[in-house]
Amino acid sequence: MSQVSKKDFEMTYDIILTGGLVVTASDTFKADVAIKDGCIAALGEKFNTDAVKTIDCSGKYILPGGIDVHTHMEMPFGGTTSKDTFETGSIAAAHGGTTSIVDFCIQGKGQSLRESLDGWHAKADGKSCIDYAFHVAVTDMTDEVLCEMPEIIKQGYPSFKLFMVYDGLRVSDGTFLKALKVARDNGGLVCVHAENNDIVVNNIGELLAEGKTAPKYHAASRPPLAEGEATGRACKLARITDGPLYVVHLTCSDSLEEVVRARKAGASVMAETCPQYLYLSTENYEEPNFNGAKYVMSPPLRPAENQAPLWNALKNGDLQTVATDHCPFDFKGQKEMGKDDFTKIPNGAPGVEPRMSLLYKGVVEGRYSLNKMVEVASTNPAKIMGMYPQKGTIAPGADADICIFDPEKSGPINHAELHENVDYTTYEGIDVPGRPVSTISGGRLVVENQKWIGEKGKGHFIKRGTPIIL
Ligand code: URP
Ligand code: ZN
Ligand code: ZN
Repeated sequence: MSQVSKKDFEMTYDIILTGGLVVTASDTFKADVAIKDGCIAALGEKFNTDAVKTIDCSGKYILPGGIDVHTHMEMPFGGTTSKDTFETGSIAAAHGGTTSIVDFCIQGKGQSLRESLDGWHAKADGKSCIDYAFHVAVTDMTDEVLCEMPEIIKQGYPSFKLFMVYDGLRVSDGTFLKALKVARDNGGLVCVHAENNDIVVNNIGELLAEGKTAPKYHAASRPPLAEGEATGRACKLARITDGPLYVVHLTCSDSLEEVVRARKAGASVMAETCPQYLYLSTENYEEPNFNGAKYVMSPPLRPAENQAPLWNALKNGDLQTVATDHCPFDFKGQKEMGKDDFTKIPNGAPGVEPRMSLLYKGVVEGRYSLNKMVEVASTNPAKIMGMYPQKGTIAPGADADICIFDPEKSGPINHAELHENVDYTTYEGIDVPGRPVSTISGGRLVVENQKWIGEKGKGHFIKRGTPIIL
């Protein structure tokens, strides 16, 4: 890194990060980072340290802020609502080094996409403490909605989630094909929740008839092949249309093989996994005293032999991102709704805060490089979701969204240290070798030495551009 110019030296910056190791998806280098007016102004060696604030980052990594492209804040589900608001959830995210989220706006029955987005903006605008964007989860895919999609893409919401499962939400293969074509022709992206509905519905009927109501039967009702079959079908629909597809929350080898096959065939298919599928397993459903309910999510946790293939796929690029599917329900009162029937347990688990620490554990355990961690946690999410290069990297001109990560701050994750508004973490006791310690969001230092110092509600809506197909 060369000396800064005279002009740079004379400039007064808002924040200067000194002495840290900058890590992007492609490079690792020592540099000071100068921040002004919400953006990264320059990378160099000796800036005018008359900045409003100088932060000593010696011994720390300076990473692009994490981008979690799969969250559910304040989401109604099964007669209750996920516990984190945009305010509490975004503060938790910031503590975990995440500076942008893409949340799923759920279309109400009979609502236009625009109406449903207006509803989601009302929850988030002026409340979110980090930058945020929305996918639209389409629950009522009519011809009118298909016609509305191009305009919604132009307005900065290029990604749409479609469900292949859940009666009342799922779309037919024919509708899926139509949506892929609209996305293909208008710079959009179809995200898919892939599980075979008939397999799941039949299994639930049989299990309940046999009196099998405990949380572990949630996993039994949704086997890996039910996900693999639907993923394979979605991939083939993407190949038939040459449509762009992003598989959300991929859990297992059966699905991964389908994604790999489609990508080898040249399809525009990408996929995300989540930390829960890398670290937790069906064993967790065996925990006593109804604790298995904490892990009830869809698709469910899988036998542990699925974890190594997922890590390898992150390393070799077959999987492109890790998001959290953060969807927190309290154990007390919410998960307990399914005490006598696993189908009544609200689906979802928290995770927006410990994602970066858990992904760093993968680096220390030799699963992939630190650059690859940055790629799957920030750069690829930014590219695929139409936010790059404004976000997802550390370069002059990019938003000053930064995670200052201490690779020495090791210790077990525990619920008491987290800021998620929920009464447990699924990662209790898992040892992580390092942690984010300070976070800069849009040039504002919001977390300093693990303490919230930001102003609330200062996050901005991200109007996204065209997804990049990786
Ligand atoms: O169980 C889950 N994953 N809940 C959130 C909704 C979804 O399908 O992503
Ligand atoms: Zn889903
Ligand atoms: Zn989800």
